[in-house]
Amino acid sequence: MSHQFVPVNWNRRKRIYDLCVWVGIVAYIVIFVSVTNVRFQGEASITPVIVLMRAFATCGFLMLTIILCIGPLARIDKRFLPLLYNRRHFGVSFFLVALIHAGLAIFWYHSFGPINPIVSVVTSGGDYQSLSGFPFQLFGLLALLVFFVMAATSHDYWNAVLGSSWKSLHVMVYPGYMLLVLHVGFGAMQEDYTGILPGMLYASVILVGGLHLYSALFASKAQITLETLENWVRVGNWQDIENDHAITVSVGDDERVAIFRYDHNKLCAVSNVCQHQNGPLGEGRVIDGCITCPWHGYQYRPEDGCSPPPFTEKIETYQLKLEDNVVFLNPDPLPAGTSRPVTEIR
Ligand code: HEM
Ligand code: FES
Repeated sequence: MSHQFVPVNWNRRKRIYDLCVWVGIVAYIVIFVSVTNVRFQGEASITPVIVLMRAFATCGFLMLTIILCIGPLARIDKRFLPLLYNRRHFGVSFFLVALIHAGLAIFWYHSFGPINPIVSVVTSGGDYQSLSGFPFQLFGLLALLVFFVMAATSHDYWNAVLGSSWKSLHVMVYPGYMLLVLHVGFGAMQEDYTGILPGMLYASVILVGGLHLYSALFASKAQITLETLENWVRVGNWQDIENDHAITVSVGDDERVAIFRYDHNKLCAVSNVCQHQNGPLGEGRVIDGCITCPWHGYQYRPEDGCSPPPFTEKIETYQLKLEDNVVFLNPDPLPAGTSRPVTEIR
């Protein structure tokens, strides 16, 4: 569990996940190309390079939509958590698919002239005054640069080197998505008379926006109203916490605490932030007696917030007390790895 800078940490589960992703990509491309070739025949037939370019383009857009939906879905319903696991590999696969589309576009539209193909993407044509003539490929290029930086820094090594900036960097996925919406909206959609591309674009924006909004409202409803009593914060009834699961509460501006129930009658409070990549521990479960992060499975003992040997990670712990079935939390964190008496439900 400690940082070991091996090239990629694959395990059986990740291999199966990656295999499913790539089988899905290949199946999508084959179906897209076959359907397009059957539908557009004779004089209406489309050059194979353009068909492939469109297949990879729409596949990439679909993948990014799924990637952006996984987070809120996992927050709304824990059954989606397995999708969260290994989401970074999905992200890198998406970048490769988008890169193939961009490569085909640059090859087909920009590499036969006298100008350098990349310079041609930036400078060629375009009418900033007109909706249908807007230089939409520039948005695609900018989006590709954003996704390149994200894919290149997705490894644990960069996570450790960049620290808290890593998360801020990866929030760039949202501006990247918006650039892509502009790329499609100003570009291919202007000439699409079938309605499929606009339908895909609107459905994606409504789904991604709607799920984020719903999960924000859902999370705030699920959040416990905090009442500070002297130095203790009222969390709620212990019955509200499912066994081997947690509820999370906010204390202070940016600090979240996960309060777990385990062994049916024990309670503990720890920082919600995993030491690996800041994963949300409160969305994890207690497995084999340890709090297990939903993202990559780092584990911490409930009693002292330490990873079981030989691992050395530690998270901050908090004190709890129970009065008439009501759980109270002391919002002052104890140093990472501090053990405290077990809070038992009697
Ligand atoms: C250097 C970067 C890029 C360039 C030069 C570029 C170029 C193009 C071109 C020329 C088209 C119109 C294709 C046609 O229908 O004939 C297009 C459409 C499209 N692009 Fe890009 N693109 C770039 C990056 C991206 C990226 C990163 C994505 C992400 C997946 C993307 C997604 C799309 C989509 C969804 C379409 C609509 C496909 C369709 O017509 O069915 N593009 N792009
Ligand atoms: S963030 Fe990777 S295991 Fe927690």
